[in-house]
Amino acid sequence: MRNILSAILLSLTAIHAETPKFQPGQPWLDDKGVHINAHGGGILFHEGIYYWCGQFMVEGAAGNAAQVGVSMYSSKDLHHWKNEGIALPVSDDPKSDIVKGCILERPKIIFNRKTGKFVMWFHLELKSQGYGAARSGVAVADKVTGPYQYLGSFRPNAGAWPSNVPDNLKKPLSNEESAAISKIRFNGGLTPDYPKESLFRLHQEGGQMARDMNLFVDDDEKVYHIYSSENNGTLHISQLTDDYLKPSGNYIRIFPGGFNEAPAVFKHQGKYFLITSGCTGWKPNRAHLASADSIFGPWSDLGDPCVGTDEQTKITFGSQSTFVLPVQGKPGAFIFMGDRWKPSNPIDAPHIWLPLQFDKNGKPFLKWLDSWGLDLFDSVIER
Ligand code: DGJ
Repeated sequence: MRNILSAILLSLTAIHAETPKFQPGQPWLDDKGVHINAHGGGILFHEGIYYWCGQFMVEGAAGNAAQVGVSMYSSKDLHHWKNEGIALPVSDDPKSDIVKGCILERPKIIFNRKTGKFVMWFHLELKSQGYGAARSGVAVADKVTGPYQYLGSFRPNAGAWPSNVPDNLKKPLSNEESAAISKIRFNGGLTPDYPKESLFRLHQEGGQMARDMNLFVDDDEKVYHIYSSENNGTLHISQLTDDYLKPSGNYIRIFPGGFNEAPAVFKHQGKYFLITSGCTGWKPNRAHLASADSIFGPWSDLGDPCVGTDEQTKITFGSQSTFVLPVQGKPGAFIFMGDRWKPSNPIDAPHIWLPLQFDKNGKPFLKWLDSWGLDLFDSVIER
């Protein structure tokens, strides 16, 4: 009897050992035994393989700026990742926007079926200008793993008015309004007296500020660029041109004065969901959830998607959203991908991947798990 029991125990242990688990917050080794260096990243599923691109960080505080470029990994099962090298290297040319030492954050890749090109968008800050440039960079490649060719950077939607503002606001600022704005000290975080209806007008001619960003590919293959604009106080959702290389000029503003960063959009049963963070630099804060029946809104605030103790939820389990990944072959299964930033040594930053599930009212929620596998999506988890 004892022998039978120990045999069962042994085989259960073997099965357990073979089933890979996500372990949020723990080092996650690639095929070379090195912690996956793809931060603020995103994932494209293409021809049966997941491709994860992200910021390649180096040791020490200088690692928060781009010293190497955008890294790429590939995987068939989301657990085991092959290092595919640097997909978009920074430049050695001091005249290039993406010269070594610039800030290049939150890269995302998508595939354009019509052009056959892979397109990468990222948040770009020009070297030695802090976070003042607030631009979007674009690169393309013929192969998903690169090399990506840098096309340029800009502030999106120059010359275009957001479609969801009243006509009486579609005009440049008066001298008095400009003077009032020039007295406000914006620091990228909550700003007293934030002018909710002015900054998009100030930047209408030259293009809108664009910092934290994501891309969302809809079922009809239209693509939307979601970015923190107007000094991080207001999000914009901007449709791209059919080649995915530029903004189309068709865009909306949402949650003016809401101060949302780290946007990640996903769609489930015809509804659009948006997860964001607040604006506290590298420090984690409470996540926000919003939903809409159309990508162009109206968007409703659904509060905090995290379920747990206040200690856990007020810092999103010590993470900041970077992407929501639909799991292939499992309808309704989504993975929240977050970063637990380590600004003093960014190369060490752990990845926080947690399952996103839906409660009986169809509202997505996030719960902390030390360890979990994709089989979790086969059962209902308690809220
Ligand atoms: C928060 C953003 O989400 C990050 O991508 C990065 O820009 C940091 N702020 C910099 O403080």
